[in-house]
Amino acid sequence: SLPSHVTIVEVGPRDGLQNEKQAVDTAVKVELIHRLQAAGLKEIEATSFVSPKWVPQMADNAAVMAGITRQSGVRYSVLTPNLKGWEAAAVTRPDEIVVFGAASEAFSQKNINCSIAESIERFAPVVDAARAAGVKVRGAISCAVGCPYEGEIAPERVALVARLMAQIGVQHVGVADTIGVGTPLKVQRALEAALQHYPLHEVSGHFHDTYGMALANVHASLQLGIRTFDTSVSGLGGCPYAKGATGNVATEDVVYLLHGLGIDTGIDLDALIDAGQFIRGALGQPNGSRVARALLAR
Ligand code: HMG
Ligand code: MG
Repeated sequence: SLPSHVTIVEVGPRDGLQNEKQAVDTAVKVELIHRLQAAGLKEIEATSFVSPKWVPQMADNAAVMAGITRQSGVRYSVLTPNLKGWEAAAVTRPDEIVVFGAASEAFSQKNINCSIAESIERFAPVVDAARAAGVKVRGAISCAVGCPYEGEIAPERVALVARLMAQIGVQHVGVADTIGVGTPLKVQRALEAALQHYPLHEVSGHFHDTYGMALANVHASLQLGIRTFDTSVSGLGGCPYAKGATGNVATEDVVYLLHGLGIDTGIDLDALIDAGQFIRGALGQPNGSRVARALLAR
């Protein structure tokens, strides 16, 4: 049976904007986050503490965190690939951090400049420090169904990384279809691999929509009982280390699907669409959400 409530983790300010070619003002990022929380989002991935040489768009990470007027009940998360990232993030008081690994060796090298085994060694002290500070730790498993360099990825690879993450104390894992190649049964196999090491409520789906399969994959995940999804307002984004990958599935589209299935999200779709229009307007881009476009045209 389908879950009655689903938690949406809004990743637009991070996964969405990290890939934007044009510079985006810190004030615009902060305003986007304010609009998202006003729309009822309770989990917002705000920025990442990565190398500004690798991802210049996230160089204002501390300023974004400092600029947010926090709303009670909203949790703000940030990406931290190593201890340097954690130390810079910690002083900005995130509620949650994300260490990000991959089920593909080649992608791990391209994205974080180390092997899967080395990444786990780097994450371990970050996890310890975060948990000692009372900060929850999520792990992302990139290329969980396919890799731009290695092609198809076997579910066993996902199970291995999930096991390694569980061993170092990562509390939740996101199964990420980085390049959006997954189809429902393959995505279910990848989720089941993660579920060998994590309970249902600590496994989430993170689907990019490159091939237009993301909503089908969300529905297939719901059928397994998965109740947490990372989505991006207006479908913002992509990944700088996955050429050709488009943004995450649009938050508006997932909310429309969930509400249509009678699943509660706590999100006000109209306010969410306003947030998407705000950021696409600031970027001078068309809205990437089919639902937003349809409702705006009425
Ligand atoms: P590295 O070069 O191997 O790191 O990069 P290093 O430790 O050798 O340090 C080299 C330089 O980077 C030094 O500076 C460090 O201080 C600096 P220098 O002495 O040359 O001036 N440095 C840092 N600066 C700021 N913050 C840090 C940091 N660490 C080192 N945390 C590193 C390793 C991971 C840092 C690098 O490869 C990197 O930043 N990669 C960016 C990865 C990234 O942001 N990718 C996109 C996010 S992941 C994603 O989108 C996937 C996801 O959405 C799920 C999915 O869809 O698959 C989550
Ligand atoms: Mg992503």
